[in-house]
Amino acid sequence: MAAASAQPTYLTISELSARSGAAPSALRFYESEGLILARRTTGNQRRYPRYMLRRVAFIRAGRQLGLELREIKASLALLPTDRAPTRAEWGRAARTWQARIDARIAELQVMSRTLGSCIGCGCLSLRRCALYNPLDTAASRGAGARWLLGDEPPAGEPAPAI
Ligand code: FES
Repeated sequence: MAAASAQPTYLTISELSARSGAAPSALRFYESEGLILARRTTGNQRRYPRYMLRRVAFIRAGRQLGLELREIKASLALLPTDRAPTRAEWGRAARTWQARIDARIAELQVMSRTLGSCIGCGCLSLRRCALYNPLDTAASRGAGARWLLGDEPPAGEPAPAI
């Protein structure tokens, strides 16, 4: 297998799109935002170094996490653009998202524990609502499913449905 420091393989926009799953229009947009880079052929066609695949995957992962483009851009700015970044460099960029990833994990854990029980949405349709959201006390905390959003019900965390 070719070492990472060897001459990278260059991909056309269609090849990069096919392998990354990102539409060519999205790739052109990422390029216009400076998130990925291509060189041009004498015929003015884009050719992307193969390691741009990882950048595109990183961008898509960030979007999935709910990051704004400017946040993703700030993380990618930690990486070299003229060669494939090392594992350590990718680790440094990824660590900028750690707090966000941890918050998302916590959100999903609350959801996993709570979704089968009263979520404090105001419907008062479950017997458990009488215990965990009597007279819709959750409404006083704001709009939405308050227990699902992380607020603590007066009776303590709703026990998951058995
Ligand atoms: S599930 Fe809606 S208020 Fe309890």
